[in-house]
Formats: sequence, structure tokens, C-alpha cells
Amino acid sequence: MATLTELNRQQILAQRRQRLAHQYPGAVVLWSGQPVARNFPANVYPFRASSHFLYFAGQSLVNTAIKLDQGIATLFMDDPAPGAALWHGPVSSRDQVAAQINASAAYPLAVLAQHLPEATMLPNQAGLSGQLPENNFETDGAAANALAAAIATVRLSHDDLALQQIKTAASVSVQAHVAGMAATPTATTAAQVRAAMEQVIIGHNMTCAYNSIVTIHGEVLHNEQYHYPIAPGDLLLADVGAEAVSGWASDITRTWPVSGQFSPTQRAIYNVVLAAHDACIAAAKPGVEYRDIHLLACRTLAAGLADIGLLRGDPDSLVERDVHALFFPHGVGHLLGLDVHDMEDLGDVAGYAPGRSRSPRFGLKYLRLDRPLAANMVVTIEPGFYQVPGILHPARQSGEYDDAVNWARLDRFQDVRGIRIEDDVQITAEGCTVLTADLPTQADAIEALVLPGRK
Ligand code: GLY
Ligand code: MN
Ligand code: MN
Repeated sequence: MATLTELNRQQILAQRRQRLAHQYPGAVVLWSGQPVARNFPANVYPFRASSHFLYFAGQSLVNTAIKLDQGIATLFMDDPAPGAALWHGPVSSRDQVAAQINASAAYPLAVLAQHLPEATMLPNQAGLSGQLPENNFETDGAAANALAAAIATVRLSHDDLALQQIKTAASVSVQAHVAGMAATPTATTAAQVRAAMEQVIIGHNMTCAYNSIVTIHGEVLHNEQYHYPIAPGDLLLADVGAEAVSGWASDITRTWPVSGQFSPTQRAIYNVVLAAHDACIAAAKPGVEYRDIHLLACRTLAAGLADIGLLRGDPDSLVERDVHALFFPHGVGHLLGLDVHDMEDLGDVAGYAPGRSRSPRFGLKYLRLDRPLAANMVVTIEPGFYQVPGILHPARQSGEYDDAVNWARLDRFQDVRGIRIEDDVQITAEGCTVLTADLPTQADAIEALVLPGRK
């Protein structure tokens, strides 16, 4: 894709504002938020504007609001305090920012109270509204819900600027994973592999889009501990993704053998997960229900686990009973955009089509996306296999699955705690494009990246 010029960027920002006006005819105020102090005011966590603000303003501005009315933007922010340059260097004035983001007028933040539309703050921002000076927002639930639905509709379909930025983030994530694999043979802890991966992201002046997972305990789905020693025989699961300077996210998981060679049991299950991953990507295209992609992953996993003797029965019946979910308890993926789980601050408004809600079924309740795929959506595909003691021990004790699970054979697969293979997928007019395809998924290719020249 050709590099976008500044003019293109301004046009795309204008289009985003127009698309919102089309979906929500009233005026809208979006607030960026402000830095969160870590214990005392001068020590703040890194600031990153609210994604809804960032999407329509195009810049991560501190403590700033924009009002959008029929596509016209008005800026509300204070000029830098006297002395700010001492601590922060030169900062753009309000009028300079207004020109940069193509706002037609600009006022101090305190003036916002006189310009408030009827009900415009997003639900997630409403709780913070007390931090806005001299404002006392009363949000109307129905209008706020309509606004959330309108923003979700606009942000579900990515424009060229968004796609370019997601690709930029994805390419850095690919490099980070390659670096992580290469660092593994000489690393002694998961922390050292994480450092090798995040170094690539930081070196590109990016941040992580979410807390990295780099662990030999992949069965702990959101494991954020890095102290574990790593040893030959372990599988290392790394779920690490870069966020571009512009705020757009990427999200990749690979699982590799610390020794550079999968054991036969690890390779067998790796290939089952890979078959599910490949089947989902082959099926992803406009009009296909994401829930059916999830169920395809479940059936492919069930069939593969039956082929290697861990499950018994036909895949459809195993999935109907949620037997697969004993080993694959999460959904096959989610929306990806400015947030790694894009727009989950709106609950399921973006993830679930109108009128749909979460299933109580064990095998479906963690599905984060249940709507038909459409061109220019970006989703993750991330099937996995996990041996979670908290799930498997009670299931085994209960005897309920004795006909379907070969528990004795499973005991021979103890060197597989967690495997996930995750890629970022853009839905296109006809099918899909894997934005993270430069990072191999085949077991042989993964081994070669960990230990080049072994074979
Ligand atoms: N990195 C979080 C996820 O894959 O959902
Ligand atoms: Mn993900
Ligand atoms: Mn991930």
C-alpha cells in the first residue's frame, strides 16, 4: 500500500467524522482522558488517549475534548501552563493543535460546559467526567447507547490509514517474535526472552499493545509472570504485540520449544492446533459468521485430538457436549484495532451483532465476537490447547467425560501445558489477508527460527 500523505490523513479524518455524523446525527463530545498518577502527581503512567478520541481526533492529546457536530470538529483544550516547557519541552498551543487536527474552532476546556450537547459522553468516559473542570455531565442512557452503537459501526470497518498502521505494528511484532525465538537457546528465564522481544518494539519507538505473555505456563491464559526458569523440554508460549505510535494494535502468539525441537507429543498437539488455525483462516471471508469460525476451530481441534487418541467420538458430538472446551476454553479471537480487544470498553456492543448476547454454554461463553465478517474488519484467529488443572482435574474426577476423553493417554502428554497460534487477519472483499503471515507457523519453520542450522 502506498504511503499516505498528510492530505490523505486529513481526508481520512474528515471521512471518519462524516461517517459518525451519518450514524449519529446529534452532536458528540469525546474526551481524551488524562494521565493517571502513580502514587504522587509528578510520576504518571504513560499517557495514551481514549481510543474513541484518538480515532476521531487523530492525535493522543492530554486532557482534551473534541465536539463533533455534522462532521465539524471543535477543540477544547488549555494552552500549556507557564513553565510547562521547563519540564516537557515545547508543546503545541491550542491554536496550533486546532490546525493540526482540522478543528474549525478552539476554546479553553472550561468553555466546554457551555457547548455540551444533550447526551454525548461515551459510557466508559462518563465515569471520569467529574475530572473535567466545571462540568457536570448528565448522560442520557438511550442517547449514550445510540452513540456507542454508532461509534462501533464506524470503527468496525477499517480505512486505509488504520490498515496501514495495523500493518506497521504487525511487522514490528513479527520481528519481535523472531528475536524472541533466536534469544531462547541462550536465555535462562522467560524474562530474558520477553526482554529480547520488547526490545524490538521499544527500539521502533512503539509500546506493547497489552501486557506481554511469555511463559512456559501457557495454560495460565493471561500469565504475566516472567520469573520462571526455562529449560529444554519446555514449550514457551509468547503472546506479544506492538502498538504503533499512532495507537493501532497488533496481537501475535507463537509457541516454540526451548530446545529448538518439539518432542513427538508436543509436535502432535501443535499440529492439531495449527490445523484449526489454518482451517479458520481458509474459511474467513465476508458474510461468514465469526461464531461459525469459532465452531470450526472447535470441530477441527476435536477431530485432531481424536486422531491422536486423546478424544473418542465424532467431532460434532464432542463439540455439542463442549468436550473440546476442556482443552480450548476461550473464543477463537476478537476484533483488533486501536485496542487489542477492540472496543471492549463498550462491552459487547461492537463484538455482538444487535440482538445477540453471550451464550451461557461453557464452549461459547468466552466468545468475544459474534457477528458476520465484513470487508475491512480485522480479527484475530487464535486457537489453542491447554491443560488447565482447574478444569481437567474436576472433569476427570467427575467421570462425566470418561467415554470421550482417554485420560490415561493424556497422561503421556504432560510436556504440553499450553499451545496457542495467533495471527491478525484482515477480511477483504473476497476472503482474507493474514497481516502477520511473515511469521511462520509450521513446526519445522519454528524450530529453524529457534535453532538455525540444527537440521
Ligand atoms: N493478547 C491477548 C489476546 O490474544 O487476546
Ligand atoms: Mn488475541
Ligand atoms: Mn494475543
